[in-house]
Amino acid sequence: MDDRNGRGRDRPAPTGARHSPPASFVEQANVTDDSIHEAFDEEWPTCWERAASLLEWDEPYDAVLDAEDAPFYRWFTGGRLNAAYNCIDRHLEAGRKTHAAIRWEGKQGERETYTYQDLSVAVDETAAALRELGVGEDDVVTVYLPMIPELPIVMLACARIGAPHSVVFAGLSADALATRMEAADSEFLVTCDGYYRRGDAFNQKSKADNARLALEQDVRTVVVDRLGDDLPHVLGDDEWDYHDLRDQYAGATVDPVPRDAEDMLFLMYTSGTTGEPKGVVHSTGGYLAHVAWTTHAVLDVKPADSYWCAADIGWITGHSYIVYGPLALGTTTVMYEGTPDYPDRDRLWEIVDRNAVDVFYTAPTAIRAFMKWGTEYPEKHDLSSLRLLGTVGEPISPRPWNWYRKHIGGGECPVVDTWWQTETGAVTLSTLPGIDDMKPGAAGPPLPGIEARVVDADGDPIEPGETGYLTLSRPWPGMARTLYDGDDRFREEYWDRFSDPDADEWHYFSGDTATVDEDGYVTVLGRVDDVINVSGRRLSTMEIESAITDVDGVAETAVVGRSSDRNGTDVYAYVSTEREVDPDDALRRRIVDSIEAAIGPIARPEEIVFTPELPKTRSGKIMRRLLEAVANGEELGDTSALRNPEIVGEIQAGRGDHD
Ligand code: WTA
Repeated sequence: MDDRNGRGRDRPAPTGARHSPPASFVEQANVTDDSIHEAFDEEWPTCWERAASLLEWDEPYDAVLDAEDAPFYRWFTGGRLNAAYNCIDRHLEAGRKTHAAIRWEGKQGERETYTYQDLSVAVDETAAALRELGVGEDDVVTVYLPMIPELPIVMLACARIGAPHSVVFAGLSADALATRMEAADSEFLVTCDGYYRRGDAFNQKSKADNARLALEQDVRTVVVDRLGDDLPHVLGDDEWDYHDLRDQYAGATVDPVPRDAEDMLFLMYTSGTTGEPKGVVHSTGGYLAHVAWTTHAVLDVKPADSYWCAADIGWITGHSYIVYGPLALGTTTVMYEGTPDYPDRDRLWEIVDRNAVDVFYTAPTAIRAFMKWGTEYPEKHDLSSLRLLGTVGEPISPRPWNWYRKHIGGGECPVVDTWWQTETGAVTLSTLPGIDDMKPGAAGPPLPGIEARVVDADGDPIEPGETGYLTLSRPWPGMARTLYDGDDRFREEYWDRFSDPDADEWHYFSGDTATVDEDGYVTVLGRVDDVINVSGRRLSTMEIESAITDVDGVAETAVVGRSSDRNGTDVYAYVSTEREVDPDDALRRRIVDSIEAAIGPIARPEEIVFTPELPKTRSGKIMRRLLEAVANGEELGDTSALRNPEIVGEIQAGRGDHD
């Protein structure tokens, strides 16, 4: 099959091991009734009212699901609610003003706690200021902030006034920011002067300034002063200091705007199969219901918990499981600005210990790093508060899964391997920790109410153990509603391939390959398209390729993923130069600079291999699959379809440089 990136040698293979949920966990679990899978099936789609009932609605919905205009599904139609009200005000009304909402751990060892009351004040004042700057309902506000408390505060302030936010990961470049602001027609930006990276002050505002210069639209900008005297900055026209605004609106209150369940809560740009990032549109009602439900049912979070998702809010995981899910449930969400190894490799365990974290959620890349560093770091700290562990973002093979369970969870905590995507909004495949057995290496069965099918190229379900395409055959509340770039692209990207519109049969194509076993447990293998997953971050090979071909002297390039123990996948770039150009270190540096400028340091290739030519078919198409096999040291199979088969041997033998 056309398996582009699921061919990793570290492919997770379930070992056949099974672990039942520990009795001590089941006793206290939020969901323990094992008829839930069946009940959701029988009552579908009304079963999803269980999710909606975790929220407070200003106006009740008329229907759970409207499938009239499939695949543009609408959930909880007619209902009205406000996400910020659900994440803040209702907890105040329930007498939980002094309960900690956010516990922030800064890079320099700073700590701040926001109670629900503190959060309420901050969000109100910010909302008042944004409104005064001209932000109206449905105006897209771009947020370009690192992991500081102002990030969730601004998101919730937007939600409060019905302005969709579009958070751009702070590590992305000025170009990437400009592209996203332009695509979203966004005229408001919240950013900061800079942030600390391994102790050094790093200038964020200059990136924001460059993005603004590249934009045609006028942009009103709010700047959070994070670094003070460590990095002085000046404010120009149309720029305001965040803390001055807060002072100006001190004590202001803003009524939450009741939003239609289908109104856009936020936009999140993610990598797709083309060079252009996709603006994934999420709704207010369905999204919030689905994230709240999965935080409750999969992550087993309770209002009294100290809960920590060690992701960045700049990606979907942080939106759903640092901000909206935990705050909707009224729990304490821990937010960490730094990296796991600074100042030392026990940093995360120190935070777990000090905050008595009950539930911890992270990515396989991090777990592989912990495993490599050794057990001495977790052993320095008391991790006995932990009750449940989660993983997300990439396949996890049994070895790191077992290590995580044993050395972080003390062998007592269930581990949930949660599969989902920016587009699914919230978890769609996972074991329910109080009910289902765990199988290391397999994400698990679809959640109740979700139907997953692994199919062949014709869309027919395949036999257990065979590799196929992962599709979802029923709509779900947290699903993306469309792409901001247009409904047509939404249909093309996700629905056209396996659906039969004439028969009104709709199957969502995830872009992943997978296998399924006799018990319906799905093992996700990787992507089929031009997306590669580096340390759990989605990058588009085409976006990287276009940054490389921007460099003078580069003739052609192909970017592929190579399996890596450390990052899951590494970026490998094969580059051919123009005849008269020397493929030297200076060119290599210019290529790296161009990638960093277009996307950011996260897309930097592990290896740039110069070659006089790229392998091509007779019709002139670059054979990326073959290069991927070369990068991964795999069997190449038949190369007879190539126009230039000799080049493959040359690249393999490492004789790729010009003579
Ligand atoms: C991959 C992150 C295997 C998958 C929430 C998916 C996973 C892509 C898992 C989405 C998992 C996510 N097992 N693979 N548990 N979770 N993936 O949009 O390839 O950043 O399509 O969303 O990550 O990445 P995204």
